[in-house]
Amino acid sequence: MRTRPLKVALLGCGVVGSEVARIMTTHADDLAARIGAPIELAGVAVRRPSKVREGIPAELITTDATALVKRGDIDVVVEVIGGIEPARTLITTAFEHGASVVSANKALLAQDGAALHAAADENDKDLYYEAAVAGAIPLIRPLRESLAGDKVNRVLGIVNGTTNFILDKMDSTGAGYQEALDEATALGYAEADPTADVEGFDAAAKAAILAGIAFHTRVRLDDVHREGMTEVTAADFASAKEMGCTIKLLAICERSADGASVTARVHPAMIPLSHPLASVRGAYNAVFVESDAAGQLMFYGPGAGGAPTASAVLGDLVAVCRNRLNGATGPGESAYAALTVSPMGDVVTRYHISLDVADKPGVLAQVATVFAEHGVSIDTVRQQGRQDGDGEASLVVVTHRASDASLSGTVEALRKLDTVRGVASIMRVEGE
Ligand SMILES: NC(=O)c1ccc[n+]([C@@H]2O[C@H](COP(=O)([O-])OP(=O)(O)OC[C@H]3O[C@@H](n4cnc5c(N)ncnc54)[C@H](OP(=O)(O)O)[C@@H]3O)[C@@H](O)[C@H]2O)c1
Repeated sequence: MRTRPLKVALLGCGVVGSEVARIMTTHADDLAARIGAPIELAGVAVRRPSKVREGIPAELITTDATALVKRGDIDVVVEVIGGIEPARTLITTAFEHGASVVSANKALLAQDGAALHAAADENDKDLYYEAAVAGAIPLIRPLRESLAGDKVNRVLGIVNGTTNFILDKMDSTGAGYQEALDEATALGYAEADPTADVEGFDAAAKAAILAGIAFHTRVRLDDVHREGMTEVTAADFASAKEMGCTIKLLAICERSADGASVTARVHPAMIPLSHPLASVRGAYNAVFVESDAAGQLMFYGPGAGGAPTASAVLGDLVAVCRNRLNGATGPGESAYAALTVSPMGDVVTRYHISLDVADKPGVLAQVATVFAEHGVSIDTVRQQGRQDGDGEASLVVVTHRASDASLSGTVEALRKLDTVRGVASIMRVEGE
């Protein structure tokens, strides 16, 4: 084993970074044996230098992250600051000064992955980011390496623990959205400003990263159709139950039937209770991968948290250090397929539509005609007269598979019917 240590610079020492430092110290001997050389924490960049950081020698702490990545003797930079800047500049500077990079930064990878990969390539360095998608769950490496000989057709997953906690609460207790969000906040599962989670931004960043790797195609954050879950109601859960389904916020990356294009989207959807994703409870994450040869695979585990995320960072750190010792680099960006990324209108799926309609004869026929005119075939219809005698009824229509564009056209036309008083909810039905 080489005795000269590989030097690691840690950028950020918060929830994830502090756990990375802890594991590097407590597992130092095992890590050295697995890598073939010891690793040494050479510097830790933070914003607040006076904060007490257990187990980290004070002389390693700096607020000058730029100087740390420019030192020239750093082998690997671990970026766990988060956000776009200064993380982006620090990563590219690290490459230019001879270091490889491990990052957990989904926002940056989803926005600028191509440029960062190009910078890594130009400097013949590694860029690894297993922790950027679903915390501890191995996903990037299985997609990039284990399934490199297969053809992935679909990646369907719960990639945000906060939203899964909220939806699971609504499902199991009948709570409304706000009540479930309040509980998630009180228990520390939701941040004070939950927008990134509940509006699907976090999941969309992960979907862009997963789709890019799965389909060997550049998928930008803007390519991902995104709908949050703040409009999901207790009534939606009641409808889902009647259909033998539950509701999850899903990230769905799919290859089209002809294989020529792909789509990536994040939105709440009904999935059958028999689907493995339906039983993912609390803040857990799970990702279902479908490929030609392997068939169906499911990856499950904690999608966030300091120690689980640090586990993924450390796995990358070991891999990158091994590559350094071998004078090699691991797999970089694979975007050779360059498939077309299609808009949401091209997505084909089933829909559950709940309408408030006038409770009088002929309405059902009128509604059915609108669906037929837009080429959307109806699977089931259920009509319920209301007890309050206001002359309205609820009409629940479940369709066969149709394009999102056809469904949008249908809904637009339905809204124009005098007998349709309102569209109470539209939910896609997935995982069948
Ligand atoms: N937390 C999770 O469960 C989780 C899961 C998966 C991925 N991630 C990703 O991991 C990354 C880090 O998340 P986190 O939860 O550990 O964040 P965090 O707790 O907020 O920690 C951020 C750290 O970065 C430091 N920092 C901020 N701005 C800096 C600057 N300009 N220069 C130097 N240091 C700076 C902060 O310093 P101070 O300590 O002085 O404030 C802090 O130590 C993010 O990209 C996040 O998306 C997190």
